[in-house]
Amino acid sequence: MCILLLVNDAEAARNNASESALQEVRTEIDRVDRQLVQEIAEREIWVRAAGKLKAMAPAVGDPERVEQVVSRVRDIAADMGADADVVERTYRTMIAAFIDLELDQQGFLDAPVIGRLSVADAGEVLTLQRAAYVSEAQIYGDPALPPLVQTLPELVAELSDCLGHKALRGSRLVGAVRSVMDGETLHIGRLTVAPDLQGSGLGTALLAAAEADAGPEVTSAALFTGHLSAGNLRLYERNGYVEERREELKPGLTLVHLRKPLP
Ligand SMILES: CC(C)(COP(=O)(O)OP(=O)(O)OC[C@H]1O[C@@H](n2cnc3c(N)ncnc32)[C@H](O)[C@@H]1OP(=O)(O)O)[C@@H](O)C(=O)NCCC(=O)NCCS
Repeated sequence: MCILLLVNDAEAARNNASESALQEVRTEIDRVDRQLVQEIAEREIWVRAAGKLKAMAPAVGDPERVEQVVSRVRDIAADMGADADVVERTYRTMIAAFIDLELDQQGFLDAPVIGRLSVADAGEVLTLQRAAYVSEAQIYGDPALPPLVQTLPELVAELSDCLGHKALRGSRLVGAVRSVMDGETLHIGRLTVAPDLQGSGLGTALLAAAEADAGPEVTSAALFTGHLSAGNLRLYERNGYVEERREELKPGLTLVHLRKPLP
């Protein structure tokens, strides 16, 4: 009985000691948080100053500048013995919040901005594509449609070889389209809009951005969709695309190829 009491006392003392050590550590973390917020507040002053110097929304969130900042802070983290991955993730989140702040300052936060797609967007494009193409999978009863099974390395390879545009709403990627020039034809593909924003004109705007990318040698734009995708067919026909031919890919799925002359 006595031995049991002693063991319990020792355990309680150990618990108290670790509880107070944890409290001390938390106090230190709170102190560092205060310093961090002070530094973030100062960064905000400079970001707001930069925002006033940028005439147009597309200059906000310049991907090259973002990569420069991330690579710089990774180097600083390495010098200081900090975990560079943690610093990078923290910075990417903070930069995204500051981009939204700048866009809000310019009155652009809710207005989607069309910009160039880059390899750095691959992860977000993959997520967007998988979410958007579920409706197509439901139409054809096929969860293995190519946009749904494309892997990240495949997408990275594709993006490094093609032209592309993205639609951003604040720092959120809400749409994308890819295109490739082949002689006189601009092949447009994977037009994708976030499900919650479909039907608000983004698809049409991305299609126009892809067409505007065509070099002088290009005389027409070509794309395809499935024969049961009535909404897509309406969208393309409304934008000047005319059915050229049909190709049965497999039972239940026929591709409708459409073409539009470009000026
Ligand atoms: C097709 C898609 C890119 C169109 O983008 P969007 O921003 O919704 O298009 P817009 O708002 O500019 O134009 C609306 C038109 O798009 C078409 N459309 C296709 N799917 C649609 C959807 N789920 N919701 C609304 N419109 C859709 C319709 O023709 C619609 O016009 P309507 O009002 O006459 O029906 C988008 O719906 C999407 O991502 N779909 C899933 C992926 C896909 O099928 N991509 C095309 C592959 S060929």
